Amino acid sequence: MSDKPAKYYVTTPIYYVNDQPHIGHAYTTILADVLASYHRLLDVPTWFLTGTDEHGQKVQQAAEKNGITPQQQCDQTVIRFQELWKRLEISNDDFIRTTEERHKKIVQNVLQELYDRDEIYRAEYEGWYCVGCERFFMEKDLVDGNCPECGKKVDAIQESNYFFRMSKYQEWLIDYIETHPEFIQPAFRANETLGFLKSKELQDLCISRPKSRLAWGIDLPFDPDFVTYVWFDALLNYITAIGYGSDDDMFKKWWPCSCHLIGKDILTTHTVYWPTMLKAMGVEQPQSVFAHGWWLTGRTKMSKSLGNVVNPMEMIDRYGVDAFRYFLIAEMTLGQDASFTEEAFVKRYNADLANDLGNVANRVLNMISRYCDGKMPAAAAADAGFDTALDDALWQDAVAVAEEIAPMIANMKLDGSVGLVLSAVRKINVYLQERAPWSLAKQEGSEAEVAHCLYTAAECLRVCAALLYPVMPEKMAALRTALGMADAKPHLGKLAEFGVLVPGSEISQPGALFPRIELEKKEEKPVEQPKKEKAPKQKEKPSADGLITFDQVMNVKLKTAVVLEAEKIDGADKLLKLQVDLGDEKRQLVAGIALHYKPEELIGKTIVVVANLKPAKLRGVESQGMLLAASMADELRLVTIDGGIGPGALVK
Ligand code: MSP
Repeated sequence: MSDKPAKYYVTTPIYYVNDQPHIGHAYTTILADVLASYHRLLDVPTWFLTGTDEHGQKVQQAAEKNGITPQQQCDQTVIRFQELWKRLEISNDDFIRTTEERHKKIVQNVLQELYDRDEIYRAEYEGWYCVGCERFFMEKDLVDGNCPECGKKVDAIQESNYFFRMSKYQEWLIDYIETHPEFIQPAFRANETLGFLKSKELQDLCISRPKSRLAWGIDLPFDPDFVTYVWFDALLNYITAIGYGSDDDMFKKWWPCSCHLIGKDILTTHTVYWPTMLKAMGVEQPQSVFAHGWWLTGRTKMSKSLGNVVNPMEMIDRYGVDAFRYFLIAEMTLGQDASFTEEAFVKRYNADLANDLGNVANRVLNMISRYCDGKMPAAAAADAGFDTALDDALWQDAVAVAEEIAPMIANMKLDGSVGLVLSAVRKINVYLQERAPWSLAKQEGSEAEVAHCLYTAAECLRVCAALLYPVMPEKMAALRTALGMADAKPHLGKLAEFGVLVPGSEISQPGALFPRIELEKKEEKPVEQPKKEKAPKQKEKPSADGLITFDQVMNVKLKTAVVLEAEKIDGADKLLKLQVDLGDEKRQLVAGIALHYKPEELIGKTIVVVANLKPAKLRGVESQGMLLAASMADELRLVTIDGGIGPGALVK
């Protein structure tokens, strides 16, 4: 195992208490749980915090509508999250609610201290406010007069307010991000924040709301006519919950945070507001902020109005908690968007869990029952008198996987690490085919060899079950019990020692760990496309003079995209297959550039893509768009973007 951290403190965003928990909330929380569990099993002191963000206009409005107090509204809705986390086997050490005294008191202390030090001042404000995002915007920030974050209508606002002197930290923050590459991850998100910081003057942050407009918040200690802006209040949860200003020992033990997990939607608040707030308070920065991508339904953004939001409770009821956790971790490459469809879920479940892992576990356990009287067999001595090359190779493979996992998890390659364990599982299946203990068992005097073979397979299965335990705690605990292990939880530090399973211990049959799922053919319900994303109307033909109209140009949607992966296509010398990040989705492109670029040269380049081109197949491989390139004679060069702009920007 590679170097372990001295301690591990992981957080999720605190969720708006009014929301109905959906797959996005479930994902971040499962991800934090997997990381926390993994570190605990390595004996790293670990703290895992999640919670709810309970102040703000939406709660106040919902309470008014329901004729109850905002606190009652929160108390009723917080249960949805707490129950879901219980169902999902989330092992959080604490659950903070921003309406708790322990939080409110410290938020007020921080505000008072910053006010006393003139980090907070009062001024007149005129601008635009988005209720949905609970954020202020300047006129120039609006997109078509609407909120630049969510696209919804914004309200004009003019009022007196309190401001945090965020602008004075702009240069410091740029320098901090540039000199701490691990601070914002993945790296392209750091570039996104840097692009934002370098392209405009940072404004001071409005941190109050007049009570006349919003009463549901934490009172400013120095002006009772105002409450605290919800983000200033919410971000502080990461330190109030671990004793900042109330329990120095606890705070010193856990801070700085190892990893704030967030979705890409809240990058600015976590990589601009939060670090500048901490800087003003004189508190050390968190070690990393990791922004993951979006879960999409197919290729469409999930939204209530489209009715395509995945409800985690329904998935768990249908397929079980562990299978749901497994799918989310295996399917999303951290940092990129991922697609959730029930078909993809069932396909992966049947392939990885039913056919591979479940099948291998059943085979090993059944054969131990049949050939070894249901007791764990013993490994043979070194001079066994038979060829152990295949057994040794299988074990060495399992050890190698156990060692490779640690750096992968440290680098947040969770999908890759799960994939690696599954490849080790498949190797056990191949090994059993080659070793054929059922044939060996028919040969006289081969008991020791059969025992050695099944013991080796069981030991490798033990390693795989341990490595998958953080992702599927319930099923892997059941598998360990079935293997005759007394302790349901594995110890990841001692994985690679051969001989942990105790010969002679009773094994049991856990039943089908992952029964195959037959998906009923449902009638395809066409997913409605959001209006603004509708395909452009039929293009007009170019006029006789060969000139096109402005409208025709505007019909072509050009966007920036970052190349994530590139590979050759077998049998097509000129084509490369690219996976690109288009900001809010991942796409595959096929481009005729193989004679001009090596695949590895393309990774990380920001290119320009025609984003609304109908998908087409080239040599049987789907291309979901087209990239732009300039060519002259034999030369071809890609159109690339000159830094500072991330994926998904419109090219006009
Ligand atoms: N309350 C703020 C966070 C304050 S943190 C100091 C908030 N809450 S939220 O309820 O809107 O949750 C946001 C988080 O939910 C995202 O950052 C992300 O972690 C998760 N997701 C919500 N929808 C998502 C998807 N469709 N896909 C993946 N995760 C997304 O913002």
